[in-house]
Amino acid sequence: MKILCLLGSPRPKGNSSILAHRFCETAKGLGAKVRIFSLNKLEYRGCQACLACKKKLESCALNDDLARVLEEVRTCDVLVLATPIYYGEVSSQMKAFIDRTFSFLKPDYVSNPRPSRLDPGKRLVFIITQGQPDELQFDDVFPRYDAFFRWYGFEAGELIRVCGVMDPGDVEAHREALELAEATARKVCSGGER
Ligand SMILES: Cc1cc2nc3c(=O)[nH]c(=O)nc-3n(C[C@H](O)[C@H](O)[C@H](O)COP(=O)(O)O)c2cc1C
Repeated sequence: MKILCLLGSPRPKGNSSILAHRFCETAKGLGAKVRIFSLNKLEYRGCQACLACKKKLESCALNDDLARVLEEVRTCDVLVLATPIYYGEVSSQMKAFIDRTFSFLKPDYVSNPRPSRLDPGKRLVFIITQGQPDELQFDDVFPRYDAFFRWYGFEAGELIRVCGVMDPGDVEAHREALELAEATARKVCSGGER
């Protein structure tokens, strides 16, 4: 089992990263191979809408730090996306990565019943932290992106979300969320219950 984990927060010890590390440590303990990238440490641009990935290439034309990450997505079994909420959205680091996944779609993706260049059956784990304690605020973020990744052939995603955490480390007080990170790792590593 190969797990690729992308950290979308600029805070190395931030709340979303703490949850992601808890997930990854548990998965490692169960024998998974885990690769973690902190997006903030990489140099890359957002999608340039050049459409090279639709007209002449099978992958993104940009040759920057994200090229390797996108290649790792192709070979992973589980993709973990960990992000804070910034202005009601995923962080810009995460959004730019997501825009670049446009290169996973085939040229005829609008009409093709199998529009994705990725092998089907990958699993998505979304980790979201936000300062706002009201769970109804920004609860649209996960379903929106989950739908895009299903389009790429992913199974229905898992969500680990904590609201009302502002400062780095605040999430440590949310035992249920840390336990959910562990339980989700056990679930995806056992291949169970989708
Ligand atoms: C630029 C910026 C924008 C933010 N926007 C929001 C927001 O719209 N809603 C919210 O609930 N929290 C917002 N926050 C708070 C973060 O979501 C919160 O601190 C979160 O726990 C950070 O996760 P991290 O520690 O993994 O970086 C914002 C924080 C920053 C720095």
